[in-house]
Amino acid sequence: MKTLYLKAEEENTPLIAGDILRKGGLVAIPTETVYGLAANALDPEAVKKIFIAKGRPQDNPLIVHVQSVDEIPPLVRQVDPRLPALAERFWPGPLTVIMKRSPLVPDEVTAGLDTVAIRMPSHPAARAIIKAAGVPLAAPSANASGKPSPTKAEHVMRDLDGKIDAVADGGECSVGVESTVITLVTDPPVLLRPGGITPGELKEVLGEISISHAVYEKLNENEKAHSPGMKYKHYAPQAQVTIIKSSFEIYKKFLEAHSEPVCAVCFDGEGKYFKYSLEYGREDDSPAQAHRIFDVLRRVDETGCKTAFVRCPSPDGVGLAVYNRLLRSAAFRVIDLDFSIPVYGLTGQTGAGKGYVGEMLAKLGMSIIDTDLVARQAVRNPEVINLLKAEFGQDIVIDGTLDRAELARRAFADKKKTQALNSITHPEITRLTTELIHKAERDGAKAAVIDAPVLFESPLTAICDKIICVTAPVEVRLARIMERDGISREDAMLRINAQRDEEYYKSKSDIVIVNDGNTDLAGEILNRKDLI
Ligand code: TXA
Ligand code: MG
Repeated sequence: MKTLYLKAEEENTPLIAGDILRKGGLVAIPTETVYGLAANALDPEAVKKIFIAKGRPQDNPLIVHVQSVDEIPPLVRQVDPRLPALAERFWPGPLTVIMKRSPLVPDEVTAGLDTVAIRMPSHPAARAIIKAAGVPLAAPSANASGKPSPTKAEHVMRDLDGKIDAVADGGECSVGVESTVITLVTDPPVLLRPGGITPGELKEVLGEISISHAVYEKLNENEKAHSPGMKYKHYAPQAQVTIIKSSFEIYKKFLEAHSEPVCAVCFDGEGKYFKYSLEYGREDDSPAQAHRIFDVLRRVDETGCKTAFVRCPSPDGVGLAVYNRLLRSAAFRVIDLDFSIPVYGLTGQTGAGKGYVGEMLAKLGMSIIDTDLVARQAVRNPEVINLLKAEFGQDIVIDGTLDRAELARRAFADKKKTQALNSITHPEITRLTTELIHKAERDGAKAAVIDAPVLFESPLTAICDKIICVTAPVEVRLARIMERDGISREDAMLRINAQRDEEYYKSKSDIVIVNDGNTDLAGEILNRKDLI
């Protein structure tokens, strides 16, 4: 099908669009929030086409768009007594209200629920097209399911060109994130999706409201979503997105510690510090962030980076909508790099006796984090497994378990592949490690110690206040490796030679501990003022 491109401001656009809609076609229309993919809400066959064009899950209901409150009574069982006040204050505008539905609304629109979501957009083109169509319009955001919502006609074309009858180009959407969704079916009303209208503004009209926990958290496996759209991964570029909570200084240090290319999704004025960056508004300007965030998320993949780290927005006012959309695009991966206890890195060459030093530090009340275990746990995360399969081949997973030996063979074949492996696993390794540090804080540990044989190659270096390296003379290390692993002197030597030399380790460390088997290590560590 050829998708007709219409300019929203042209006089006959509403007539052409209205005509297509009445005949059961699909038209993407601009609204003040995001572009919507509209169909006649009262025509089940037309509505079905929306789900096909977007690839949208059948159980996710649509919002019905009207241009006058007079259109509402036939759509609902009863007009909620609180509606007039909401309409008076917020309509036309970015608010969607859920009420019990009437039989007039097809099951296809409500996905079989006994409620219907209704909104009156303020964009003049949307209003003109609804009016010209003469029927209420069911319209989800006009993106391919899972992609960021479209805030420009070109976003719609990129996702849906050839799949819909027409698009009306009304320029950039002013709000930039979808409408606030509130249900009046429950008492008190529940905010299901934050958007252009803030919780504070709603409270001024409704008094008490509650905010669905799905706004902040991933739903449990078996939990039923009150707003089905909230249960899917959403708004996501191909790249893996992670939200970083920290000062700019620490954020910058953390990003710089990655050897693979990473994209900084940051606030205005910060982009110049990074090779790949996208700015999404001033730190203190939530409306500007809302306006830009979807366009920025769409552009992440153009940088070629497989990893994007987003500066965490303030979740106040409209910022709650920005934070909520970012959480979903990040599959809820948030890394908090602000620690209240010291974080030490512990590393050393093979056979240097780093494990024994770890045991001593644990005795001093520090919490030891074993990054080998963390790395194993990271590759059990389903999202990580899917990315690994896409990068290294479906056959690296056999009967649901990752073939780690085969993965290593493929990943270490060349530098690009190794970087790809790092891009996929590093964010999850960092997330798990930082969660353990925060657990150590709660448990009252004196410090957290990241025990990592390859610490310097890992972005975790950036979060260490100090790095401790353990060294021992080659002869001592040889003897330890031979005994520990039951291998010959030659093989032990090969392992030693495969690593960087002692000078390299020392030059990158703040504290060097010699574990030659003779010194009273416990005593020495106890006396180190720079450690405790
Ligand atoms: O700003 C907007 O609301 C945009 C523009 C086009 O109007 N539309 C939009 O639609 O964002 P969509 O389909 O992408 O999101 C609709 C959300 C989904 O999360 C859906 O689950 C929820 O509203 N929803 C729709 N009907 C519902 C109902 N009866 N009960 C609970 N949630 C409902
Ligand atoms: Mg949507």
